[in-house]
Amino acid sequence: MVLPSAILLPLYLYPSASAPWTNLYNSLTAHPNTQFDVVINPDSGPELVSPGNSALSDYVAAVSKLRTYPNVNIFGYVHTSYGDASLQPALLSNISRYATWNTYTPANISLDGIFFDEAPSAYDTSIYTNLQTATALARSSDLRRVIFNAGAVADTQYFALADYIIMYEGAYANFDAGAIGALAQAVRANSSVVVYDFTLAEADQKTFVDQLVGMGLGSFDITTTGSYSELSALWAAFTQQVSSAVGVK
Ligand SMILES: *[C@@H]1O[C@H](CO)[C@@H](O)[C@H](O)[C@H]1NC(C)=O
Ligand SMILES: *[C@@H]1O[C@H](CO)[C@@H](O)[C@H](O)[C@H]1NC(C)=O
Ligand SMILES: *[C@@H]1O[C@H](CO)[C@@H](O)[C@H](O)[C@H]1NC(C)=O
Repeated sequence: MVLPSAILLPLYLYPSASAPWTNLYNSLTAHPNTQFDVVINPDSGPELVSPGNSALSDYVAAVSKLRTYPNVNIFGYVHTSYGDASLQPALLSNISRYATWNTYTPANISLDGIFFDEAPSAYDTSIYTNLQTATALARSSDLRRVIFNAGAVADTQYFALADYIIMYEGAYANFDAGAIGALAQAVRANSSVVVYDFTLAEADQKTFVDQLVGMGLGSFDITTTGSYSELSALWAAFTQQVSSAVGVK
């Protein structure tokens, strides 16, 4: 069975009481049958404290609210620097730290999985082995879903480790629909794209959303911004367009 495309949101934004997280909650309510995969990123990782620490209190409040929406999967951000072996101890310790979120009892801040940024695209045995250890730790720690951000078309051997692989992360101007469309359908179903610097109009975004949903991608994001430091100016339209393209509210 091919699932409809989900919205993938790198929400690298501090959960103050202001707009971005509130806009996300509103979208989750407005589109209850659309799946949102949200990546949270306290500090290029989990922040080197446990959830009971006051440094994470805003995250605990925001994530426990996010947890009340049934149509969201929440992922904790880590970076692998393309499988750099010297970072492996920090990577494993960060995954273990996110695992403590799942056993935190004062609030439900459980995470569905881990988002591995700076994942490799070319196959390499030692990198593969490092990431195999890291993904095995995540899955055995109840962080069961794994996304790799390769940012470019990745060797499909990495699907033995990841549920989803981001096969393109880049500006809209450089997006190569042919390269993504050339992936086998079964691969596209577990592939994602993150397209930033979308500078065209809302109606053009709808055409683009329809194209990406039509390719049968697992998930994707389109944002008008050039960084992840603010939500797309077309965020509300984007969530509406994806919901109608996948045929749900
Ligand atoms: C681990 O998390 C810390 C704190 O969030 C971050 O500074 C560091 O870069 C992370 N390292 C890796 C390899 O994920
Ligand atoms: C936390 O929320 C998730 C998602 O709704 C749910 O699956 C899980 O059972 C909850 N955990 C606890 C301890 O209530
Ligand atoms: C593809 O995604 C689905 C839905 O999340 C998942 O059940 C399946 O295991 C994934 N397949 C691979 C090869 O990762």
